[in-house]
Amino acid sequence: MIKVIILGSGNVGTHLFKAFKNNIDIEIIQWYSRDLKNINQYSDVVKITDELNELEVADVYILAINDDSINELSSKLPFTNRLVCHTSGSKSINELDSKNRQAIFYPLQTFSKDSEIDFTKIPLCLESFSSKDMNLLKNIATTLNCDYYEISSVQREKLHLAAVFVNNFTNHLFTIAKEITDESNIDFDILKPLISETVQKIYKLDPKEAQTGPAVRNDKETINKHIQDLKSNDHKQLYKLMTSLINNLDHEKL
Ligand SMILES: NC(=O)c1ccc[n+]([C@@H]2O[C@H](COP(=O)([O-])OP(=O)(O)OC[C@H]3O[C@@H](n4cnc5c(N)ncnc54)[C@H](OP(=O)(O)O)[C@@H]3O)[C@@H](O)[C@H]2O)c1
Repeated sequence: MIKVIILGSGNVGTHLFKAFKNNIDIEIIQWYSRDLKNINQYSDVVKITDELNELEVADVYILAINDDSINELSSKLPFTNRLVCHTSGSKSINELDSKNRQAIFYPLQTFSKDSEIDFTKIPLCLESFSSKDMNLLKNIATTLNCDYYEISSVQREKLHLAAVFVNNFTNHLFTIAKEITDESNIDFDILKPLISETVQKIYKLDPKEAQTGPAVRNDKETINKHIQDLKSNDHKQLYKLMTSLINNLDHEKL
C-alpha cells in the first residue's frame, strides 16, 4: 500500500483525491487544504487538516497547489528527507525545497473541479533525483493504469509550452468562434462535429498535412471577406497572423 498525502484542494488536488480514493493500492493518509471548507464534505472518507504541523508520515506528499506557492509551501513543511512532489507543468523540480526529496508528478491534462475525467487516460510526467523515488512514482502510475514518462524539468517546460498551444489557445479560438456564432444567432453546437473531426484527424495525419481552409488554399477573396467581417481589431490581427503562418505569407500584406 502506497501512503499518500495530498496538499491542495483545487482542480488537480480534487481529481487526485478521486483517483486515489478507490484505488486498493493507495492509501490517502490525509488531505491538506489551507481552507477546510473546500474539503469538509470528504471528512468522512479521509482525514483532513489545515495545519502543516499535523501532517503525518507518508511515502509521498503531492503538492497540487498554485505554481507560485510551491517554493513557499515546500519550505514550510515541518519535516525533512521525505518524498515531496509538485504537479506543475512549468515549474522546475528545484522549485521544491531541497530539505526533502524532490520529485514531479505532472498529469498532462486539463482539469476543472466539476468536470469528470477518466484518470487512466492521463499521461503522467515523472521526475526525481533517485531511482528509488522514481520507482515509487512509477508504482503509483501503474496502479492508476496510467501511461507514464520520465521527463526532465527542461523537457517538461517545453511540453507545457506545447500544451498551452493545443489546449489553452485552441480553447480561446473556440471562445472567439462562439462569439461569432452567437452574434449571428447560430447555435455553437453546429460546430462541434467539425471540432471533433479536427482533433480526430491528428491521430491519423501529421497536423501540417491535416490543414485545410482558405489560408492553405490561398483563397484571397475569402480571406479578405473574413477579415472585413471580424469586428474586433485584435481578432483581425489574429486572423491575419494565423493565415500568414499557415501559408507562410507576410501578414502585414494581408
Ligand atoms: N488545472 C489544470 O488543468 C492543471 C493540469 C496539470 C497541472 N496543473 C498544476 O497543478 C497545480 C494546481 O493547479 P490547480 O488547477 O489545481 O489550481 P487551483 O484549482 O487554483 O488550486 C490551487 C490550490 O492551491 C492552494 N494554494 C494556493 N496557494 C497556497 C499556499 N500558499 N498554501 C497552501 N495552499 C495554497 C489553493 O488554496 P485556496 O483554495 O485556499 O486558494 C488551492 O487549493 C498547479 O501547479 C498547476 O500548474 C494544473
